[in-house]
Amino acid sequence: MKRMLWIATTGAILMSTLAASSAAARPGSTKKSSFGKAPDGQDVDLYTLTNKNGVEAAISTNGGVVVSLKVPDRDGKLGDVVLGFDSVDGYVSDKSYFGAIIGRYGNRIGHGQFSLDGKTYTLAKNNGENTLHGGNKGFNKAVWMAKEIPAKDGQALELTYLSKDGEEGFPGNLHVRVVYTLTDSNALRIDYSATTDKDTVVNLTNHSYFNLAGPGSGDILGDVLTIEADKFTPVDAGLIPTGELSDIAGTPFDFRKPTAIGARIDANDEQIKLGGGYDHNFVLRRKMGAPISMAARVVDPKTGRVLEVWTTEPGVQFYTGNFLDGSAHGKGGISYTKRSAFCLETQHFPDSPNKPKFPSTELKPGERYHTTTIYKFSTEK
Ligand code: GLA
Repeated sequence: MKRMLWIATTGAILMSTLAASSAAARPGSTKKSSFGKAPDGQDVDLYTLTNKNGVEAAISTNGGVVVSLKVPDRDGKLGDVVLGFDSVDGYVSDKSYFGAIIGRYGNRIGHGQFSLDGKTYTLAKNNGENTLHGGNKGFNKAVWMAKEIPAKDGQALELTYLSKDGEEGFPGNLHVRVVYTLTDSNALRIDYSATTDKDTVVNLTNHSYFNLAGPGSGDILGDVLTIEADKFTPVDAGLIPTGELSDIAGTPFDFRKPTAIGARIDANDEQIKLGGGYDHNFVLRRKMGAPISMAARVVDPKTGRVLEVWTTEPGVQFYTGNFLDGSAHGKGGISYTKRSAFCLETQHFPDSPNKPKFPSTELKPGERYHTTTIYKFSTEK
C-alpha cells in the first residue's frame, strides 16, 4: 500500500514537472521584418531570433548590427542589455559603431598605412592621422545578405558581404561570412570567417555597447569586471599601440580579480589619461590547447545579470564609452552619455599590420580566416 502511494505521488510530481518544463520551453523562432532603407535605397531587414527560453536577439542587415538583446535578470525578467536605435536611420548617422560588425580591420591602423609583400597600402584616414574600424565606410555601414540557417543548438542567421579589392584602400576581394547563433543556453555566438584572392589583412569584431541594467539606466561604473589578462598594449596619444606588452600588476588595468569598473577609471595614470578611461587592448591569457577561452566576465550587482565573453582571439579591447557625449539619442529617445555602456571587442591587437611582433593579421589566398566569440548570459543572486 505504502509502495503504491509512493508510485502514485512520484508519478504525479513527474507529470507536473514535465508539464511545467514544456510550458516554459517553447520552440525557438526567427522572424523577419522591415527595418527601413539604407541611404542608397536598399531594403534593410531586422531578424529577431528567439530561443526556447524567450531570450531574444534582433539583428539588422545594415552593419550586421545587434539592435537588441533581451536576457533575464535574477528574477527572470527579460530586459534589453545593448545600446542602439529604434530604426535604421539612427545607425546611418551613428559614429559610435553601436552593435555593429567591424571590418575590414577592427580598431586603429597607424598613419592609415601598412606594407605587405613590399608594397605600401594607403587607407582612408577617418580618425585624425589614423584609420579606425575599417575607414570611412567600414563593414558597419554595409548592407549584408542574410539567410536563416539550421543550427544544432538554437537559432542561426548567416550574413555575407563581399568587400571589393581596394575598398577603403585594402587589397583583395574579401568574402566575409558572419554567423550569429542564439543558443538555447542563452549565449549569442558569433562565427566570423573570410577568404581573399590577394594577400591582405583582416581583423573582425563586434562593437556592442553593453549596459546589463538596460540602456538609460545610468553608468556602468558599478559593474564588476574580470579580464583574463596579465598584460595590455599601452598606447600613444593617437591611441596607437607603442608595440610593448606591459604588465598590468599594480596598475588600474589589473582586472585579474573581480573589480568595479569605476574603481580606478579616473586614476592618475598616464595610460588612463590617454584613453580618457579604459580604451585599451588586453593580451588574453590563453589556456594551452583550449580551442576557446574566457576573456572577461562582468557582473551587474543591480540586476544580477552576468556576461561572460569567450573567444578564440588573442586580445580584447575594453572600452568604457568615454567618447559617448549624450548627443546620440537612441532607443525611446534615450541619450547615450559618457560611460553609460562598456564594450568588450574581441580582436587581434590594434595596428598589427605595422607591428611585426604582434600576432599576424595577414590572410593569403587559399587560407580561411575563422574566429569565434561567445557572449554568454546568466545570473547571480
Ligand atoms: C573603439 C576605439 C575607441 C572608439 C570606439 C568607437 O573602441 O578603441 O577609441 O573609437 O571604438 O567610438
